[in-house]
Amino acid sequence: METLLIQGGAKLSGRVVVSGAKNAALPAIAAALLTGGTVNLSGVPSLDDIVTMCELLESVGVTVNRGPGCLSLNARGASAREASYSLVRRMRASFLIAGPMLARFGIARMPMPGGCAIGSRPIDLHLKAFSAMGAELSVESGYIEATAPKGLKSAHIYLDYPSVGATENAMMAAALVKGSTVLENAAREPEIVDLANLLTKMGAKVVGAGTGVIRIQGTDELEGANHVVIPDRIEAGTYMTAAAITKGDVILENVVPEHLTAVIAKLRELGAAVEAEESEIRVSSEGKPKAVDIKTMPYPGFPTDLQAQFMALLSLADGMSIITETVFENRFMHVDELTRMGAKIRIDGRAAVIEGVDDLSGAPVNATDLRAGAALVVAGLAANGDTEIVNIGHIDRGYEHIERKLNSLGANVVRRSVPKERKASAATAS
Ligand code: EPZ
Repeated sequence: METLLIQGGAKLSGRVVVSGAKNAALPAIAAALLTGGTVNLSGVPSLDDIVTMCELLESVGVTVNRGPGCLSLNARGASAREASYSLVRRMRASFLIAGPMLARFGIARMPMPGGCAIGSRPIDLHLKAFSAMGAELSVESGYIEATAPKGLKSAHIYLDYPSVGATENAMMAAALVKGSTVLENAAREPEIVDLANLLTKMGAKVVGAGTGVIRIQGTDELEGANHVVIPDRIEAGTYMTAAAITKGDVILENVVPEHLTAVIAKLRELGAAVEAEESEIRVSSEGKPKAVDIKTMPYPGFPTDLQAQFMALLSLADGMSIITETVFENRFMHVDELTRMGAKIRIDGRAAVIEGVDDLSGAPVNATDLRAGAALVVAGLAANGDTEIVNIGHIDRGYEHIERKLNSLGANVVRRSVPKERKASAATAS
């Protein structure tokens, strides 16, 4: 088993290059299923989730050629096979192949995606979009089957919630359906805009991405395309938080400041200095952060994927902060672990009340999910003493070369291999 051992106390300084966005690359990979042409992606981060998505596509017949930071995908040989349960259960984003499979082959048979640590995360909005486009749905023995033997039809779809995944699945399906499909109350994330740009290059006409109303003029055949994935705004926000909590001075390269307006505003509100240029952001901080309140919202609101990292930062704030998580119903798994490091946090329903303390102390802690793990890294960088994080597989799903990047900024992070903990023997268990 691998752990991250962090010796806290170093002020981060220097330059770090942000990788391509995991949450833009994943739908882009799925979109390759829509065509028999070749889709070439670059700026692709090397992450475990990307590996999983590529294996999933290969399992339904897609040829995937991998290069440094790039993928070449060809789905000419793909067919309507059942997606493998073991792959789908590994990653919720696997469900993003449902829309392309349904549009291309008239059938998608998917294991119900497992719930995960941050909430039940249903797929009802994805399914509502598919049925609005004429698909027949059935559920049996843990599998969802969507069929459209006569093909999908264009539709006017209203999403009850601006779900990122449901918006992406509906956009991809509509791109391969002749006629104009309208998505109302669509998600507005930059990753949606990136997918719209790719689908447009492939021959669909997509307008309105980034707003709540997206119109997709689909066609019955899409072409291959070349596409560069946008930078990862959540990875960027994580390093910005790390710079602030260590009272450092860090310049991030390969970022889109416009994707981080809520995060930049919040950092300035809590007292960090943030300078945003064309494709660089500089974050520096001297004193303790001021206490601020945060409410996570769909984009362009404050991103839920940075809630945990900001909670770590606010654990050292001067005063009482309140973080309200409105997107997921159970995204406070990091609270117990931060408490073990000396944070003073009380959960009250969807709100967490954080009473700032003077210091955090290093401790052995457990990464329960991707962004909770990132929060523990951020906390460990500023804690007194050593923090050892287990279950760092969660972190490796979303952060490329995390220890290499942090150490290049002056941190002390070591990836260790430790023997799997032996099960406690009966004698000690009693
Ligand atoms: C995407 O997940 C991201 N993942 C998540 O990032 C991110 O936290 C989330 O969007 C919100 O921004 C990828 O892009 C691969 P949603 P997704 O559908 O699409 C409810 C990370 O850390 N909902 O917008 O699954 C759902 O339960 C990950 O990189 C329904 O009720 O998010 C949740 O409460 C974590 N029915 C809310 O909507 C549905 O059919 C937001 O979910 C779909 C969603």
